[in-house]
Amino acid sequence: MHRDDELTISEVAARTGVAPSALRFYEDRGLVRPLRTLGNQRRYTRAMLRTVSVIKAAQAVGLSLDDIEAAFATLPGDRVPTKADWTRLSRVWREALDQRIQRLMRLRDDLDGCIGCGCLSLRSCALFNPDDAARGEGPGSRLMRDRKRGRPTSSPPDAVTS
Ligand code: FES
Repeated sequence: MHRDDELTISEVAARTGVAPSALRFYEDRGLVRPLRTLGNQRRYTRAMLRTVSVIKAAQAVGLSLDDIEAAFATLPGDRVPTKADWTRLSRVWREALDQRIQRLMRLRDDLDGCIGCGCLSLRSCALFNPDDAARGEGPGSRLMRDRKRGRPTSSPPDAVTS
């Protein structure tokens, strides 16, 4: 038997949808700190459900456990995130997510330039050369095309060979 205000690991798993193995892993990482009975069984306070929910929400938006750990380190005194904490953390995570989306959109656009190209140039392919100075001249390998057309290039293409 256990106190009504404390939950077993199975109860937390059932309520949050997080597997007991994941709950134990969160504990190993110091993200959740369940109490222990005299028999060394884990007991979670109801407030810890919020912590597990915050972890689950953060993972759902693609944050790593390292990101979550860093965010939790900003909470005073190891406490469970309050509604205000969640608002602050989710605002920060939203900005990180926006940046990730922007980066992925740029990658997608760069990949568009590779479709049908196949040069895999370390110098001109935006995927291999993200700071490509020739990017502004258009998609694909501009240097390769210019070379084929006999136009001067600033430097010879450097294709990846397998
Ligand atoms: S394969 Fe990426 S620009 Fe050619």
